[in-house]
Amino acid sequence: MNYDHIETQKAIPDASSMIETFRAIGYNLETAVADIVDNAISAEAKNIYIERIWHGGKSIITLKDDGHGMNGEELINAMRPGAQNPLAERAETDLGRFGLGLKTASFSQCRKLSVMSKKKNSDSVYWSWDLDYVALSNEWNLIKWLPEGYLNALDNHESGTIVIWTDLDRVLPLSTSENDDNAKRKFSNSLERVRQHIAMTFHRFIEDKTVKIYWCGNVIEPWNPFFPCPEENLTDTPAPQENISGGGTIKGFVLPHKSRVSEKAYKAGEGINGYPAQQGFYVYRGKRLLLAGDWLGIFRKEEHYKLVRIQIDLPNTLDTNWQIDIKKSKATPPTTCRDQIEQYAKKIRSVGEAVFRHRGKILKHRAGQDFQPLWLDKTKGGKWSFVVNRDHLLIKNIKEMAKTEPIQAIDTLLRFIEESIPTKAIYVKETHEETKDADKQEIQKEPFSDIDINLIRQMLLQMFNNQINAGKAPEQAKALLKTIEPFNNFEDLIEEL
Ligand SMILES: Nc1ncnc2c1ncn2[C@@H]1O[C@H](COP(=O)(O)OP(=O)(O)OP(=O)(O)O)[C@@H](O)[C@H]1O
Ligand SMILES: [Mg+2]
Repeated sequence: MNYDHIETQKAIPDASSMIETFRAIGYNLETAVADIVDNAISAEAKNIYIERIWHGGKSIITLKDDGHGMNGEELINAMRPGAQNPLAERAETDLGRFGLGLKTASFSQCRKLSVMSKKKNSDSVYWSWDLDYVALSNEWNLIKWLPEGYLNALDNHESGTIVIWTDLDRVLPLSTSENDDNAKRKFSNSLERVRQHIAMTFHRFIEDKTVKIYWCGNVIEPWNPFFPCPEENLTDTPAPQENISGGGTIKGFVLPHKSRVSEKAYKAGEGINGYPAQQGFYVYRGKRLLLAGDWLGIFRKEEHYKLVRIQIDLPNTLDTNWQIDIKKSKATPPTTCRDQIEQYAKKIRSVGEAVFRHRGKILKHRAGQDFQPLWLDKTKGGKWSFVVNRDHLLIKNIKEMAKTEPIQAIDTLLRFIEESIPTKAIYVKETHEETKDADKQEIQKEPFSDIDINLIRQMLLQMFNNQINAGKAPEQAKALLKTIEPFNNFEDLIEEL
């Protein structure tokens, strides 16, 4: 298209409303802090210090790093929304993409974002965004301001950057009193989640010593979703790592059953949200975890897959294909590899489910040959069913009892069946089969589909005779039998009578 002769008109975004819109991108405190940590790691920081200072509504969160820092011009550019083109190629180690994170993450939590930065052998420079000033002036103007007490924050560092969040209106009401213990506890709890999120999101950087992250002075220990307790490493890797078509790799893990590890180790595996919620894919972009425990819309979370965690590694060149979002907390597999991921995950999930059901196996194992299950899981001709174990001691006793007290014996037998129907095992089997390959699927046997026909005949005849002896006409007796389960399925046999 040739634009030379077309009339144009500027339509500049309205500063005060646009900047408010930045607040609504959907970060939470955890993802917002992680976005600032991203920038520090991209700036090659060796140490990152996160502090939270409680002053009621005037509380402060700061993130300081000893990375390469910025000069005045670079800082102004960093503060500019859309500092970089999302389409630009980035260094492999750069965790950024959109040129927005610093601003959008900060505004999602606070009204004042101050950044001070310093390059080696230079003085520090600082600027702040103040949402109240932008609203007042309706201009994209930074202000030369820092919260009290931070002018010398970088004096002990050769280079680095400090990000300071004040007026944390999305974390707690600005009117909160400093003596409000309830609010203080809530603030502290939200920040504890942030600490855990950082320990998880950046665990690879912490593990390989790229960076140390300090939380109010204490170094954060990494939380590895696959080996949450390295001293008791019993995680299973049931299938080899696969290359994903189009790029990236996938590798499945099944965490150990509760009965195989110490309580401490099992607890370590719970992560932020507990086992059932932490199951699923863990998508990494480089060494940075984007998504933790999400089945990416391919499966649902279910109790019996709670030990399954599958690692997906992507290079940052696949950002567009996987639709990585601004918050770096969403990813969508491209259609070209969705099937492959689904098939791979099914294998891991079926192993995970078997481990989840391990408890029953352990008991069986301890009893060895002597173990007497109440129900037997039987497969014949690709069809499965559960049958009562005729050799079970209880059944033998009931047979003995029937010789002298038949009514009581029948009653006991019925109670035994009612009480012990293996509903859970049936449920697991049914849902498990749904996720298997179609050609390997076994189906549940239809009731009475392979019972000995003579047995039915014999029982029908006996019941028929009883009715006749009680004074019923043959047609009446037949009509009655046709209404009784399971004989309703054997009309032809009833007609033969
Ligand atoms: N701690 C820091 N140290 C040095 N430079 C920084 C720091 N934080 C931000 N920058 C600079 O500011 C720029 C803008 O940061 P911002 O987080 O807004 O976007 P981004 O990291 O490029 O992309 P994304 O939106 O994906 O986070 C960065 O590209 C980087 O050059
Ligand atoms: Mg960034």
